[in-house]
Amino acid sequence: MELIVKSMPAEVQAQALAWKREGLTVGLVPTMGYLHEGHASLIRRAASECDRVIVSVFVNPTQFGPNEDLESYPRDLEHDLKLARECGAHLVFTPTPETMYLPGASTWVTVEGLTRELCGKSRPIHFRGVATVVCKLINIAQPDRAYFGEKDAQQLAVIRRMTADLNMPVQIVGCPIVREADGLAKSSRNTYLNEKERQAALVLSRSLERGREMLEKGETDVQKVLDAISGTIAAEPMARIDYVQAVDADSIEPVKTLAGTVLFAIAVYIGKTRLIDNFYWKV
Ligand code: PAF
Repeated sequence: MELIVKSMPAEVQAQALAWKREGLTVGLVPTMGYLHEGHASLIRRAASECDRVIVSVFVNPTQFGPNEDLESYPRDLEHDLKLARECGAHLVFTPTPETMYLPGASTWVTVEGLTRELCGKSRPIHFRGVATVVCKLINIAQPDRAYFGEKDAQQLAVIRRMTADLNMPVQIVGCPIVREADGLAKSSRNTYLNEKERQAALVLSRSLERGREMLEKGETDVQKVLDAISGTIAAEPMARIDYVQAVDADSIEPVKTLAGTVLFAIAVYIGKTRLIDNFYWKV
């Protein structure tokens, strides 16, 4: 089947509804484009589980703060279309800010509580923008399933909460982090790193590996694990910690003891580039 490319929300919604009337299941992979292996894994998974796959490519302005990288965020639609097609997508939705946010738009989706810690602290309007655009994308694409990477673990928790709270008939599927061979988590923002920074950025995965090893050896003191992660990062001169935290994976509330699923999450500046990484620890 030929890849369909559409930029108008109403056209995508009409196509999705037509597929659903035929009895086909629809998977949605929301992205901001500049697709890499991480996105590819989401699209392939969606293609293996759904009859039709819609990939959205939209650098959503409402999730960027005033001093963030909206303007410089990398874009390459030709490459994105090729990769989406190769991974099994059927439709790529490429809206513009003007078609997504109509003049006078004044409705926001705000998920409280889960957005207080981690990235919510340093990026105060971020999750309002994410929840609003994902809610809109789900309403447009009418998916049975929507796929998100676990690298953005707080985003995943926020979206799960939102879809449950708003009775949205969609299954949210979290997919494992995809890493470079040397451990760096794949991210469109890795492209900002120069050679030295790229090397220094390995401290993120290395520090988490150190924390995970301690847990595997039986460490139960969460603070000791966090201190070891912070200490490893602090030893890298090009790195500046934004946060190193352990939170409950569902509520994103800070935890002091190991119970349920604990998310060990970090955000670190390497030069001007802010990178995130994490791992889940199930007790
Ligand atoms: O994870 C992302 O790329 C974005 O936050 C998302 C989910 C596509 C919403 O703009």
